[in-house]
Amino acid sequence: MEFTSICLAVAATLSIQPERRQFFRYEAFNLSCTVSGSFSGWTVMRNASEIFSPCEDWGRLNRTSCINRSVYKSDSGLYWCQSERGECSNILNITINTGVVILESPALPVTVGDDVTLRCSYKERYASNSSSDFLAAFYSNGTFIGKDAAGKMILKNVLMSNKGFYKCQHPDKGESLESWLEVKDKPQLNLPPNPSSAPPITMTSLLCTIMLFIIYTIIFIVCAIIYRRWARG
Ligand SMILES: *[C@@H]1O[C@H](CO)[C@@H](O)[C@H](O)[C@H]1NC(C)=O
Ligand SMILES: *[C@@H]1O[C@H](CO)[C@@H](O)[C@H](O)[C@H]1NC(C)=O
Repeated sequence: MEFTSICLAVAATLSIQPERRQFFRYEAFNLSCTVSGSFSGWTVMRNASEIFSPCEDWGRLNRTSCINRSVYKSDSGLYWCQSERGECSNILNITINTGVVILESPALPVTVGDDVTLRCSYKERYASNSSSDFLAAFYSNGTFIGKDAAGKMILKNVLMSNKGFYKCQHPDKGESLESWLEVKDKPQLNLPPNPSSAPPITMTSLLCTIMLFIIYTIIFIVCAIIYRRWARG
């Protein structure tokens, strides 16, 4: 992805409400950017239909959020926050379906050990509400993984191997597009510095300091001797 190469540092978090990757046409979403300092100089960006553009072009910026109240297929794309100084956030990949079935799966990466809910939703073309009250089938990387009468499936205690493309199917209205489920490792606990791995670095810098000191001292002495001989004529 091109823009990650211009991201000098990850210094923000972009989240989305409702928290999912797929949307029906004409739904609304709210992209919210959390930065550690002031939001000035930041904006929400996207790359949709091959065009990079800031929030002003496709939504309404409200403090640190960018809101679009009626999305279309052309709003499918990658969304992130970016600052004038070249910092950025995580990237969200959002898909707007033209069909009547969507898969509701987490927009942000889940962590190993989490329980992840996948929901299948159906919305009649001009209806205002969606429903999950049907026998839904779920697929992972094209393979059937289960059916549920209430349109949802819970992946318990996810593993790295649960990463992949998921989709769901209504018994007679069709299926959703596929969305990627990203799984990340548990964060490492903040243990005190490991004594067996820390010393080599300290030892190396200590040795360097001593070496430099010795070299400078030798140079100083040699210069002093040369100077004294020269001064005596
Ligand atoms: C939402 O995005 C669509 C397509 O980019 C645009 O036509 C519409 O004006 C946007 N809505 C708002 C509230 O900005
Ligand atoms: C975004 O998601 C769509 C649909 O799953 C996929 O086709 C596309 O490759 C993804 N883009 C990136 C950059 O991951």
